[in-house]
Amino acid sequence: MASPALICDTEQWKDLKAHVDDIKKTHLRELMSDSERCKSMMAEFDGILLDYSRQCATLETMNKLFKLAEAACLKEKINKMFDGERINSTENRSVLHVALRAPRDAVINSDGKNVVPDVWNVLDEIRDFSERVRSGSWVGATGKALTNVIAIGIGGSFLGPLFVHTALQTDPEAIECARGRQLRFLANVDPIDVARNITGLNPETTLVVVVSKTFTTAETMLNARTLREWISSALGPEAVSKHMVAVSTNLTLVEKFGIDPKNAFAFWDWVGGRYSVCSAVGVFPLSLQYGFSVVEKFLKGASSIDQHFYSAPFDQNIPVLLGLLSVWNVSFLGYPARAILPYSQALEKLAPHIQQVSMESNGKGVSIHGVALPYEAGEIDFGEPGTNGQHSFYQLIHQGRVIPCDFIGIVKSQQPVYLKGEVVSNHDELMSNFFAQPDALAYGKTPQQLQSENVSQHLIPHKTFSGNRPSLSLLLQSLSAYNVGQLLAFYEHRIAVEGFIWGINSFDQWGVELGKSLASQVRKQLHASRKKGEPVEGFNFSTTTMLNRYLQESSD
Ligand code: F6P
Repeated sequence: MASPALICDTEQWKDLKAHVDDIKKTHLRELMSDSERCKSMMAEFDGILLDYSRQCATLETMNKLFKLAEAACLKEKINKMFDGERINSTENRSVLHVALRAPRDAVINSDGKNVVPDVWNVLDEIRDFSERVRSGSWVGATGKALTNVIAIGIGGSFLGPLFVHTALQTDPEAIECARGRQLRFLANVDPIDVARNITGLNPETTLVVVVSKTFTTAETMLNARTLREWISSALGPEAVSKHMVAVSTNLTLVEKFGIDPKNAFAFWDWVGGRYSVCSAVGVFPLSLQYGFSVVEKFLKGASSIDQHFYSAPFDQNIPVLLGLLSVWNVSFLGYPARAILPYSQALEKLAPHIQQVSMESNGKGVSIHGVALPYEAGEIDFGEPGTNGQHSFYQLIHQGRVIPCDFIGIVKSQQPVYLKGEVVSNHDELMSNFFAQPDALAYGKTPQQLQSENVSQHLIPHKTFSGNRPSLSLLLQSLSAYNVGQLLAFYEHRIAVEGFIWGINSFDQWGVELGKSLASQVRKQLHASRKKGEPVEGFNFSTTTMLNRYLQESSD
């Protein structure tokens, strides 16, 4: 079946549009009282339980969404991704991040070539190099072991690795493996970020990893030059070869920068930046910190979800269910945002990472064929771990705008605390909130309930909760490296499903280019004006005024 020019022109889309009124008439309180419905709105895979019964949807809605998936040729599109077809058509690239975590004996082709052996060659190199650094057989210029790593990179070359590092930092197995080591991330070109990264570190014991797919990103290259200077001014220029290594698809530019390509780890143009955490981008710095065997478990977790996504029927396929429900919330119910609410401090960098994966992938205004979309694609992602978020923005979620929420709970804490004399453990306390919040959102509190509690009449409007606010809950057994990999893959595939349904290219990012080229014009002008001591010209009134104020006051 050929995929439709625009999904909104299909009968299945129109049918869902017509169905919205029925759903809007039905409160979640009613939907939740149907236990058969609730039972059907659960899915389980490899230790993870998804409960989507608090979505404003019925089984009829789900059937209509499955029909929409068929109309959008979802299965064919998933297959094309796994088959290495060039589905990123504007960059003429295949999209094969699943190959990065495939087992050694898997076969995944790009342009007729099995890429899995190349993936494992790099993984083997990483295992070997990281072991040499960790064991102290690769030392710095003064003979000292390199116990500290600064990974320089931005966007996809930063957020995913930071998310995984933050999640593993408190995992008992990972803690053991990271003893005596530090991993830091330098992303922002703001010199404050440089200062934060180098404070307290000795160049003699520091290894700098420059992570950049293109090796041209302005911020990363300036930060790399800054830390090269930090090393060479302390230890001499020859020390750079011992203290700087790289991860990139562009080994020619790595060499030009002065890093021996033998000390660089490659990846490929079929790995999108924001989907690159399972390539050397994440695997190398994380292996330096935790050892390859911990990171391998993370890859295995992601791979398990890849298999599930590829083969499970849609009504049991967790990423497909998650993706379809997102489309339902955004395009039909008109809720454009999504809150990502992990009840785990270890997942504090999940939302920032998913923000990039989701918003850079699906924040598009045209279809994959270049036709302006008559509907909005993409969603606004934000989030914070519970319970912190409860004391921040949950007010708006409970009584202000409707924002579908992802609640993520962990059965076994990485760091349990049982205080004598307390009724529940600290983790039980956290999880009590995880279980309570979805019901508070779904059921709300009626004026009648408030009256029966003798609440003063004038406070009743303020204390009423409308309820009927959708959420879904994911329950993970623990937060091991394996589980972190699973969680990552759930979100990556969910976002792909949304893009496949909306009929957009989720794998390019042209929207980031305009700002970059304007910044380069400003940079040129700033440089010229400072040199000549003259004001800038040629911009609009507003930019010229601001720039000249900046020039004047920063050179005082
Ligand atoms: O500006 C956006 C972007 O291109 C992201 O997609 C990418 O992850 C990031 O910049 C960093 O790019 P690179 O890895 O090439 O330095």
